[in-house]
Amino acid sequence: MKGIVLAGGSGSRLAPLTKITNKHLLPIYDKPMIYYPIQTLVDAGIRDILVVTGGKNAGDFLRLLANGKHFGLKHIGYTYQEGEGGIADALALAEHFSEGDKICVILGDNIIQGSIRAAVDEFREQARGARILLKKVPDAERFGVAEIAGNRIVNIEEKPKRPKSDFAVTGIYMYDATVFEKITTLVPSGRGELEITDVNNAYIREGTMTFSFLEGWWTDAGTFESLLRAGNLVAQSRQPASRVREKVNA
Ligand code: G1P
Repeated sequence: MKGIVLAGGSGSRLAPLTKITNKHLLPIYDKPMIYYPIQTLVDAGIRDILVVTGGKNAGDFLRLLANGKHFGLKHIGYTYQEGEGGIADALALAEHFSEGDKICVILGDNIIQGSIRAAVDEFREQARGARILLKKVPDAERFGVAEIAGNRIVNIEEKPKRPKSDFAVTGIYMYDATVFEKITTLVPSGRGELEITDVNNAYIREGTMTFSFLEGWWTDAGTFESLLRAGNLVAQSRQPASRVREKVNA
């Protein structure tokens, strides 16, 4: 399976921090944001990785990540998204790279505590379709929200005013090669973007979408609140367990 990190977009919700750099190069505790999703893919056994970026600071990704040696990779690929066409538009640029393989896509601002290896391994065994990871959250209206009936997802709504469940669709998506054809059928949403939620709904309609629940904490980092939370969660997870316990008891 190949891995794709989506690290484009203007990061407008983080202005002025993003006026002179790309959101995914901002620090999360002691590392640039993009280190975390790359490490998530590497930890899941994925070695062939493409970074999709854009904007004025795209060259900084090459300077930072170079050939991927820091992550134990032999090579890392890059491509460039023109404009602000959305997540699915950025993903379309990975068609050539994917060479018909299954892909695991992660949004460059999604930081997790645990591992996605089990879900990736399950998707390797899945004949076709897609697999997403869900997480129970207190603020589902900020995300894509899964409507679940029995053991199936029946629909995903993007940032609904009245969420039908507490289960956010995390920014970690596994797809078969039909994803690229599905993207060509999409039309821009109200915010003028090709939405990844519409890609996922196409798989749901086809009856080939599976899901798992993500273990451990998960956060995005695209707003001031979530950027701060991500840094704090990473910092806490680096502390020895005894110190964390002391804090909880204090
Ligand atoms: C995107 C997706 C949303 C998903 C979220 C996860 O939202 O559109 O469905 O739940 O990422 O981080 P964004 O925050 O990029 O608008």
